[in-house]
Amino acid sequence: MHSFRYVHGRLHCEDVAIESLVKRHGTPLYVYSHETLSRHFEKLDEALRPLDHLICFAVKANSNLAVLRTLSRKGSGFDIVSEGELRRVIAAGGDPRKCVFAGVGKTESEIAYALKQGIYAFNVESEPELKRINQVAAKLKKTAPIALRVNPNVDAHTHAKITTGTYENKFGVAFEQVERIYARARALRNVRLRGLQMHIGSQLTEVKPFADAVRKVVPLAAKLAKRYGFEFFSIGGGLGIVYQPALASGDETWWKSPPARKMLTPSKYADELIPLLKPLGLKILIEPGRFIAGNSGILVTRVEYVKQTGKKNFVIVDAAMNDLVRPAMYDSYHEIVPMKQANGKLVSSDVVGPICESGDTFCKDRMLPRSVEGDYLALLSAGAYGSAMGSTYNTRPLAAEVLVRGKRSELVRQRQPIEMVWAGETVPAWL
Ligand code: LLP
Repeated sequence: MHSFRYVHGRLHCEDVAIESLVKRHGTPLYVYSHETLSRHFEKLDEALRPLDHLICFAVKANSNLAVLRTLSRKGSGFDIVSEGELRRVIAAGGDPRKCVFAGVGKTESEIAYALKQGIYAFNVESEPELKRINQVAAKLKKTAPIALRVNPNVDAHTHAKITTGTYENKFGVAFEQVERIYARARALRNVRLRGLQMHIGSQLTEVKPFADAVRKVVPLAAKLAKRYGFEFFSIGGGLGIVYQPALASGDETWWKSPPARKMLTPSKYADELIPLLKPLGLKILIEPGRFIAGNSGILVTRVEYVKQTGKKNFVIVDAAMNDLVRPAMYDSYHEIVPMKQANGKLVSSDVVGPICESGDTFCKDRMLPRSVEGDYLALLSAGAYGSAMGSTYNTRPLAAEVLVRGKRSELVRQRQPIEMVWAGETVPAWL
């Protein structure tokens, strides 16, 4: 479900015509729907109702302050991976006491900052990190709430670059080592064992890998909870979304994802996992990013040129891989639709950006309505890992972002002023 649709042939986000946003704010432009963000949060929240649970939105998926505020208003906690993300949550009015801090490389100063803010738990990814957290906490005369991140060695059957729960990956503590490390942790004076966490990967389109991992880890969680008086078990994020339209016309296959009707839904996920989790009697945390934000955002771009070579029809747009890197990085599929609905013949098109790399390609040989210079296109399902992964490569400013709620819309990030791209740089006097 999402709130982007055509009304009288014009693409809308909720009650706002994309055309009006483009006129006011230019392109490339991210547009987010408040309704979609809220609904996705609520759907998951409802599905998990039989459990004592907390949804911790993965800030890395979309860290815009207005998005974070939307979710914190709904009661969301947050999964963070850096001091910067925690600062964003706080700036957006989120509650640090509902934050869990993941990541394999937490620095001393990040740990100190998070401790001072009183986060819910550090999801600890190694024994050296555990020692460091204990030391920093001792220095601050504090007790750090911790959970070990267990790597269950279960294949998530997703793209290799976003698989995290096998022994090939850098994440977490090997399943077999968890008990030994908790025993050590118990002896540390400045940590308190609060729970256990796992996260096996992202864009999972089936419930089976989640269920396999949960089935494997639940007995361990039960044993440790009894031994140490744990409060929570976090099953991580990873719920996949539909990127590909039901009738895909392109050559690309989105990570072999099944058609929409077979997609993972919150109720399928909950039906399978609740019976496994409920007997634990622990608070269950879940860390979704993409499921909440993915279909809540689009990237709107202007057609600058149409270039026909003997072989190809290139549609050159003003957005590029610096705005949305997912196709270049993971060969990922994003549906591309015109801002003004077109009923004419479809033509094979390569939609490409202006960056000087062949990888700066949003789609290849895809059947799309014919575009001409000055048209606008929208790349769908760009709300997660879109703007958040943006860069200024080729000295291109970070794109603007707009949040829509009903008839209202507001610029929630201005287009980066071009001087800001090099604002921190200096030229030595001796040059
Ligand atoms: N929890 C942890 C510890 C994570 O590392 C992640 C994502 C999540 C939760 C949220 O996962 P989600 O529910 O969004 O699948 N840039 C890639 C995705 C990287 C995911 C990294 N970790 C992409 O564009 O597909």
